[in-house]
Amino acid sequence: MDPRLFPKDFLWGASTASHQVEGGTVNQWSEWELAHATELARMSAKRMSWMPSWKTVRHDAQDPENYVSGRGVEHYKRYEEDFDLLEDLHMNSFRFSIEWSRIEPKEGAWNPEAIRHYHRYIKSLQKRGIEPILNIWHWTMPTWFTNKGGFEKKANIVYFEEFVRKLAEEYGPELRYIIVLNEPNVYTTYSYLVGDWPPQIKRPLLAFKVYRNLVRAHRRAYAVIKQVEPSVHVGTAMNMANNQSKRGRNPFSPIVAHLANYGWNRWFLNRTKKQTDFIGINYYNTNYYHGFSMHNPTTPVNDLGWYMEPEGILPVMVQTYAHYKKPIIITENGVADAKDRYRRWWIEQTLVAMQRALSQGVDVRGYMHWSLLDNFEWAQGWWPKFGLVAVDREHNMKRTIRPSAKWFATYLERLEAFQVAREKGTGSKPPKLAAKPVPTPEKTNLASPKPSEGNSSMLRRKPNTENMDRTAFMRRFNTNLKDRNGER
Ligand code: BGC
Repeated sequence: MDPRLFPKDFLWGASTASHQVEGGTVNQWSEWELAHATELARMSAKRMSWMPSWKTVRHDAQDPENYVSGRGVEHYKRYEEDFDLLEDLHMNSFRFSIEWSRIEPKEGAWNPEAIRHYHRYIKSLQKRGIEPILNIWHWTMPTWFTNKGGFEKKANIVYFEEFVRKLAEEYGPELRYIIVLNEPNVYTTYSYLVGDWPPQIKRPLLAFKVYRNLVRAHRRAYAVIKQVEPSVHVGTAMNMANNQSKRGRNPFSPIVAHLANYGWNRWFLNRTKKQTDFIGINYYNTNYYHGFSMHNPTTPVNDLGWYMEPEGILPVMVQTYAHYKKPIIITENGVADAKDRYRRWWIEQTLVAMQRALSQGVDVRGYMHWSLLDNFEWAQGWWPKFGLVAVDREHNMKRTIRPSAKWFATYLERLEAFQVAREKGTGSKPPKLAAKPVPTPEKTNLASPKPSEGNSSMLRRKPNTENMDRTAFMRRFNTNLKDRNGER
């Protein structure tokens, strides 16, 4: 694959969210954590002992402290240090969120110190030549807003609109990219359908109402930002899965995979496509449907037990672009991997997939890894480690760049050197991406997987050919397989 495909102004960066890293946030999530930490610890075995990593994570998962965001990783205080890390990682962009409960701790009362903080924060990125990408809403809200019913009530959207207006007025002139909402599909599902997250409600009709109100919230936010600062590019970050039907005789599998694509990946975007300048894709999962249930291979999985198929991001990018014809930014992508066994492989496969997408004409503009730092992983707490940079919360929040991140930084450094040399007309070799097989985890045997597991499922899976020329897809698909098996 040709690294020349990455344009020089491609956004290379990492993502975070206020509540997951800042520390000291007081919102509906922090209140919920304090009320539920003991119960979450007590129920952890029931919820998580199926995970292959359970033995390793059990100690932390059974500790109530694990479920309290508390001091976070002190990113609110240490952001300068963290932005130095971005420079060390050769990144040119950074996605972050602004904590609503800090800016407007009481209804209608703006907090000038918090407002100044984020001005300094944005300036500090810019001083380093790093593009700040603001994400307005990443699920946390001030309690005065959620006590009124939050997004359950259409009449409450006006409060969000005012917050957006404030941010647009304050920071709009300093920004080129704003994401309004992070993963409205995940929030609605876990807070109102599955009922695992605050406010822990399981009511499908209410979930639908909230989802529709988030559509309205996005549309209004778009209008407000454009009115205040027309030059800003505005988008939404959607969690998108690569939904596939498992090969076999079940006639429902392709229908269910299709419905999953529609409901999960498109429903929201279909309703907001006129109010979006780019589409943010958060990719973590490929799901195989067998009839009405999900049948994913059991290896390789990350620490959270999620099946990993990094190259599954390719069909997601291709289909999204075919559908909406809008520029794409990968706004999140990563693995929970405390031992850093998979991260490099995951990133490398993702880069190959992005090159393939670019070679097929998909307008991909950037890649933000999740996450820069180990972070508070919502109802799972602190034990899952998503950071390019490990944070030791026991030892003064010490930051350590993981080996995979060092590799990624070297790749980005070489890519930049190559691009600069090419512009000057001097020779320089482009950096290469090794097509590596799935790294073999301890105690699993991927060299000879069982017929229903691991790589072999790739042979049996029926590719989703929607919006794609079948021959082209199959050619690419076979190449993918060779890559995956290390044959190329
Ligand atoms: C969310 C992040 C989360 C990540 C890993 C995404 O769905 O936006 O907040 O940490 O997944 O679970």
